[in-house]
Amino acid sequence: MMLDNTTRQQLVATALEARQWAYAPYSGYTVGAALLTASGKIYDGVNVENAAYPDGICAERVAVFKAVSEGEREFIAIAVVSQDGGFPCGSCRQVLSEFGLHTLVIIANPQGEILQEATVNDLLPHAFGPQNLRDR
Ligand code: THU
Repeated sequence: MMLDNTTRQQLVATALEARQWAYAPYSGYTVGAALLTASGKIYDGVNVENAAYPDGICAERVAVFKAVSEGEREFIAIAVVSQDGGFPCGSCRQVLSEFGLHTLVIIANPQGEILQEATVNDLLPHAFGPQNLRDR
C-alpha cells in the first residue's frame, strides 16, 4: 500500500484524536497512536497507566495488540503523538518489530505536525525476531 501524505496526515489526526483518552495520571505524559494495517484499517491506542506503576502500557503496544487481536498482522505505519514528539520506547520497538521491520514510525506533535519519520528497522537494528526461533 502506498503511504501518501493524505494518509500520513489521517493517521496523525487519528492518533491526536485518540490521545484525549490516554490514562496517564501519574506521569502526565499522554500519548496517542494510530496504526495502519495492510488491509487499510486504522487501530488507535493510548497509554494506560496503573497505580502499580510497571503495569501500565504504552499507546503503541495498545494499538498493535488491538489490531493483532482482531486478526491483523501486517502493518504499514504507526503515527505517535506526544507533547514533545518522543519516539517509541524499547519495548514498543520490539513489539512492532515482531510484525515487520519496514513499518514506518511517524512522530508528530499535538499540532499535528510531523517531526520525524523512521522505519522500525532504523529504530531497532539487529532486532531479535521470529527468524531466530525458526528451523530448530
Ligand atoms: N509512553 C507511551 O505511551 N509511548 C511512548 O512512546 C513513550 C512512553 C507512555 C508510558 C507512560 O505511560 C508515559 O508515556 C511516560 O513514560
